[in-house]
Amino acid sequence: MKKWIPKKPWRQKTGPVARRTAAREALHSPSAAAIGSERLEDRGAQKTLERVISKAGAGSRTQARSWIHAGQVQVNGRIVEDPDRWIDFNRDRVLLDGKPLTKHKPLYILLYKPTGYITTFKDPEGRPTVYDLIKDIDQFVSPVGRLDLDTSGLLILTNDTQFAERLTNPDHKVAKTYLLKCSTLLPDEALEQLRRGVELSDGPTRPATVRRVRDSGKYTHLEIAITEGRNRQVRRMIEAAGSKVLKLVRTHIGPVTSAGLKIGQWRELEPDELAALTGSPTRTRTSGRAPDSPVRQTKKSRRPPDVRR
Ligand code: URA
Repeated sequence: MKKWIPKKPWRQKTGPVARRTAAREALHSPSAAAIGSERLEDRGAQKTLERVISKAGAGSRTQARSWIHAGQVQVNGRIVEDPDRWIDFNRDRVLLDGKPLTKHKPLYILLYKPTGYITTFKDPEGRPTVYDLIKDIDQFVSPVGRLDLDTSGLLILTNDTQFAERLTNPDHKVAKTYLLKCSTLLPDEALEQLRRGVELSDGPTRPATVRRVRDSGKYTHLEIAITEGRNRQVRRMIEAAGSKVLKLVRTHIGPVTSAGLKIGQWRELEPDELAALTGSPTRTRTSGRAPDSPVRQTKKSRRPPDVRR
């Protein structure tokens, strides 16, 4: 059966879903029902076995589940085949393929994703994934949010789940900025509507920063900054405003820019970028990279972002 994945805490609701959550937790822990809205896979010092393995940087949660089901994981000397077993990593000794699981060093990767790559670990259709671009990283990192196949630009990947949560939680107001080319000329009223928020199938959007970059021929080029990260959000916003996105590039995550990165390259986030992303959400943009920090390149460099094409 497919694993139940809890809603993100800021979207959690009371009612039937929350009640089902509590009932499910009660299956694994007699005291869990009392905890109610707590996340299924994380309970203070205790985490589910699947999560302990992925947090240790050994692999994705899907991989962790398959290793557990295959009997490759031992806890305190016994094989455990239940991925939802509660584990205290400070107390319990976990072995994967007979080797002790060790805590990972936090890793923060900034990738300049080209179009044509999907933001998942494996694609059933065999298309290239962002992991093809970061092959030389020996720890498992997860993407913070997603970029569509047809979107290029900045993507952070990390093994620090708290950091990832902070970046994706709209309440922390970390802006993601996009340059886009629309299929039609958009009037000022449409831009105003986008700024205030438009109605999407999954609810109204939060206020956005919208700037007309230029109109060229029958196209409008915009810069939009949003603090949410819903599925295909920018494309859907533009559709709600009566146009279509022809090209979409994510140029900033908070104050972090693509400076120094060519398409397909990655580097680690600089300490000042990390501090800015985890500190004040109101900081303005800074240069993305110290001049001497290394840039990794998996593929041949391509052109920098340009929505004119
Ligand atoms: N909004 C979209 O529509 N697509 C992306 O890839 C990112 C934001």
